[in-house]
Amino acid sequence: MEPEDSHIISPDDRILVTGAAGFIGERVLEILAERGFHNIAGLVRPSSNLQGIEALLARRPAGTRFELLKGNLLSRSDCEAAGRGAAVIYHLAACSGETSFADAYMNSVVATRNLLDASVQHGRLRRFVLVSSFTVYTNCGKPRGRLLDESCPIEEHPELRGEAYCFGKVRQEQLVAEYGKSFGIPYVVLRPGSVYGAGKGGLTYRVGLRAFRTYLHLGGSNPIPLTYVDNCAEAIVLAGLVKGIDGEVFNVVDDDLPSSRQFLRQYKQTVREFASIYVPHVVSHAYCYWCEKRARESRGDPMPGLNRKRWHALWKKTLYSNEKLKARLGWKPRVPTAEAMRRHFASCK
Ligand SMILES: NC(=O)c1ccc[n+]([C@@H]2O[C@H](COP(=O)([O-])OP(=O)(O)OC[C@H]3O[C@@H](n4cnc5c(N)ncnc54)[C@H](OP(=O)(O)O)[C@@H]3O)[C@@H](O)[C@H]2O)c1
Repeated sequence: MEPEDSHIISPDDRILVTGAAGFIGERVLEILAERGFHNIAGLVRPSSNLQGIEALLARRPAGTRFELLKGNLLSRSDCEAAGRGAAVIYHLAACSGETSFADAYMNSVVATRNLLDASVQHGRLRRFVLVSSFTVYTNCGKPRGRLLDESCPIEEHPELRGEAYCFGKVRQEQLVAEYGKSFGIPYVVLRPGSVYGAGKGGLTYRVGLRAFRTYLHLGGSNPIPLTYVDNCAEAIVLAGLVKGIDGEVFNVVDDDLPSSRQFLRQYKQTVREFASIYVPHVVSHAYCYWCEKRARESRGDPMPGLNRKRWHALWKKTLYSNEKLKARLGWKPRVPTAEAMRRHFASCK
C-alpha cells in the first residue's frame, strides 16, 4: 500500500460512493474500509437490492463509520444531502448495459449533473472520480495502430452507434469536463474495459452474441479487455486518493488478457457446453454494414443496433494497455487473470 502522504485525503475525511449497491460499488466500499478510511457514505436507491451491502456492513472493520444513504440522484435535494461534506466522490451510479436512451439520459447524464451541481454548491470537494467505460472510444483513427490507450479518440456522435449506454457515458464525461473547466471541480475519469466476477455471469458481447438460434462467436483471436471486479475497484479507489492526477483519464484492464477464443473455450469447459459458430471479422463487418444500410433505408432493422461503429468498438482486433494506470496510480492487480477467470467461471455455474 502506498504511503498516506501520497493521498489527497486523510482517513477521517468523508467519502461518498454512488452506485454503492452495484456490482463494482460494493467492492469499492470494501476496499476503502480495508484501507482504513472510516467515514464512508454509500448512496443506494430505495429500491436497490441491499443483500450484498448489508453483509458487507456486518463484516466491516471495527471503528468504520459507514452511512447507508437512501436516495435517488434524480432528486437535487438527495444529491445535496449526499454530497454534503464529501472530500471525495466516487461516482459509479449509472444506467446499466442494455438500456433505453431515456434511461441513459436520466440516470447517467441528469443524475451526474445534479451531483456536480451539489458539489459546486458545497465547494469542499477535493476530487470527483467518474467511472466511465471503454464504450466511449470510437476505436478508429488510433494514433498507435492497434493499441487503444487514453490518447485515442472518443465518439463524437454517440447517438449514431445505436447504443444508449455509450451515449450516456460520452455525455457524462463531457459534463464532468465542463464542470471541471467552468467551476474548477477537480476530477479524474476511469474507463474500465469489461468488468467480470461473481454477480456478472455469462459472456460479454465482445466474445459474441446469440442470433439465428445459435451463438455467433465474433471475437476470434481478439484479446478481451477484461478487468476483474476487485482489480477494477482497486483502480477506482486509487483514483480518488493519489495526488497530482487531476484532469487525467485512465483505462482499466488487467494483465495477461485472454483471447476471445480462449475465454469462450474455458467457459464451455467449466460452465456449460453449447454450439457456437465462428464468424470471421470480414463477414461480421460486412453484415454490420448491411444492417446499417437497411436501417438507413428504413427497410426494417434485421438486428437492431448492429452497425459499423459498433463493430469497431466491440469486434475489431485491438490491443490494450494498463501502463498509465500502473505508472501514475501505482495500481497492481489484486487477483491474477488465471485465478480471476477460475473464480468467475465457478460463479457462473
Ligand atoms: N460492469 C461493467 O462491465 C462496467 C464496465 C465499464 C464501466 N462500468 C461502469 O461502472 C459503474 C458501475 O457499474 P456496475 O457494473 O457496478 O453497475 P450496476 O451493478 O448496474 O450498478 C449501478 C448502480 O447505480 C445505481 N443507480 C442507477 N441510477 C441511479 C440513480 N438515479 N440514483 C441513484 N443510484 C442509481 C443502481 O441502483 P439500483 O441497484 O437501484 O439499480 C445500481 O446500484 C457504472 O458507471 C458503469 O457504467 C461498468
